[in-house]
Amino acid sequence: MTSIYSRILATGSYLPRQVLTNADLEARLDTNDAWIRERTGISERHISAADETVSMMAEQAARSALAAGGLAPEDLDLIIVGTTTPDQIFPNCATMLQERLGIAGIGAFSLEAACSGFIYALSVADKFIRMGDARRVLVVGAEMMSRLVDWNDRTTCVLFGDGAGAVILEAASEPGIIGTLLHADGRHRELLEFPGGVGRDFRNLENVYLQMRGSEVFKVAVATLGQSVEECLSRFGHDKSEVDWLIPHQANVRIIQATARRLGMSMEQVVVTVDRHGNTSTASIPLALDAAVRDGRVQRGQLLLLEAFGGGFTWGSALIRF
Ligand code: ACO
Repeated sequence: MTSIYSRILATGSYLPRQVLTNADLEARLDTNDAWIRERTGISERHISAADETVSMMAEQAARSALAAGGLAPEDLDLIIVGTTTPDQIFPNCATMLQERLGIAGIGAFSLEAACSGFIYALSVADKFIRMGDARRVLVVGAEMMSRLVDWNDRTTCVLFGDGAGAVILEAASEPGIIGTLLHADGRHRELLEFPGGVGRDFRNLENVYLQMRGSEVFKVAVATLGQSVEECLSRFGHDKSEVDWLIPHQANVRIIQATARRLGMSMEQVVVTVDRHGNTSTASIPLALDAAVRDGRVQRGQLLLLEAFGGGFTWGSALIRF
């Protein structure tokens, strides 16, 4: 029997129109452009409009990927949305996206793994295709971190932004997605969390915001991602010298530089969007991938290494022949 694999057919993205610069933040907080750029690499981020929702952003990213692939929504047979900031607790965000795309009937579900959500969603979609249960899957990472942060807390609000990215995976006779690795360690949740929800202060969330012990998260992220990319390459039988592009989760340029150093890669081979997008959590990898596909850096046949680390902690990696 011939094996089925999945490959990335097309990519798409969406960024809200409003851009918030470091100068804008300087005007309203005790912070400054130099601190933000030196510590994080961020210059600006996009912020969603008051009447925008994650499913609306996901729709824009999905339609951009469908157009890039020359497909109609009816060509899809499964939708997976990674998000930590869904429009509502239920119905799940993917069903809202399905309704917006007008394709009732196909499976649609969301999953939540904070900043690693896109790698998790990609991994699940790949398995559906490999098992023969789907042939064309829309995978979206969409996030509105601007709604979770305290805009008076300079230690967190300067870091995050909003956006959505999408890929369409389709069945193929050769990999495409060579492999994905997922990990989690739930013991450190107080280092990075939004401490509210159905099980916690549900009726009184007004003053609940994203909490992060930044420097502790930073150290764990650098150590974990270094091991994670090495594990990914060795598990799937590739050497770091073969990787054409590192496409990391965009939390902080210093974390990205540390991972690139560990791989012996120059920053010329790393797709960086954190300067313009900030940390868009689940959306950051598909946004970065789409940017590099559209500007011609990422070419068919190249080897891509994707990695992410986020709240949970969750982390993961994907090795892809584009
Ligand atoms: N402007 C000016 N000063 C600031 C700001 C700011 N925006 N924020 C903090 N400071 C001050 C602090 O108060 C502190 O002052 P003090 O020394 O007088 O106490 C000083 O700057 C240093 O603060 P640190 O927190 O030690 O700074 P650090 O170098 O660690 O950088 C940062 C902070 C950028 C948050 C970094 O730790 C980081 O990027 N952490 C990891 C983030 C991450 O990867 N998150 C995971 C994904 S997110 C997700 O999953 C949802």
